[in-house]
Amino acid sequence: MAKATNGVYIRKYRASDRRAAQDLILNVWGKKWLPGNMHAFERFDGYVAELDGKVVAGMSLDYGTYACLVDFIIVHSDYRRQGIADKLLKFAFKYAKGRNQKIIKGFVDVKDNKPVLRIWEKYGFKEAGELRNLYAPDDHYVYIYKFLK
Ligand SMILES: CC(C)(COP(=O)(O)OP(=O)(O)OC[C@H]1O[C@@H](n2cnc3c(N)ncnc32)[C@H](O)[C@@H]1OP(=O)(O)O)[C@@H](O)C(=O)NCCC(=O)NCCS
Repeated sequence: MAKATNGVYIRKYRASDRRAAQDLILNVWGKKWLPGNMHAFERFDGYVAELDGKVVAGMSLDYGTYACLVDFIIVHSDYRRQGIADKLLKFAFKYAKGRNQKIIKGFVDVKDNKPVLRIWEKYGFKEAGELRNLYAPDDHYVYIYKFLK
């Protein structure tokens, strides 16, 4: 599929994105995950990706002394496999390096979707362990991290 990333514009989440961000979370994860992820958009450094003026993806970042957290990267189901997550992730690497972070880390829900880890491996992330029953009784998260040069 042709890459859409040339027209993709990444910018900071703002209050007027609230509705679009909610729609995005509903599309990707459903109602159950709305409050927690809206919190991550608003409480941490939320970013959105716009394509032709429409919010099609989002990301929540946070950082500390050494470790930058990618709380989530989500792309609307109609806009996947066009390089949008790639662009967001590269943005996250720059964000972390610009804040002198030593590692970038995240966690991935692999329940019924173990192959999703391969995406992160491609970018040099390594697995650091797993945690089950974090948010729901049947969830299964794998923690991932990558050292930044
Ligand atoms: C995972 C997700 C963010 C990928 O977004 P995307 O915009 O479709 O990804 P991209 O098109 O930028 O692809 C980036 C790389 O990952 C690979 N990739 C993307 N989706 C993939 C999939 N479902 N299976 C295998 N590889 C995949 C691509 O091949 C690409 O590598 P390439 O350029 O070498 O081909 C998106 O599918 C999504 O929102 N999923 C649900 C939420 C989620 O799991 N988020 C991640 C954890 S918070």
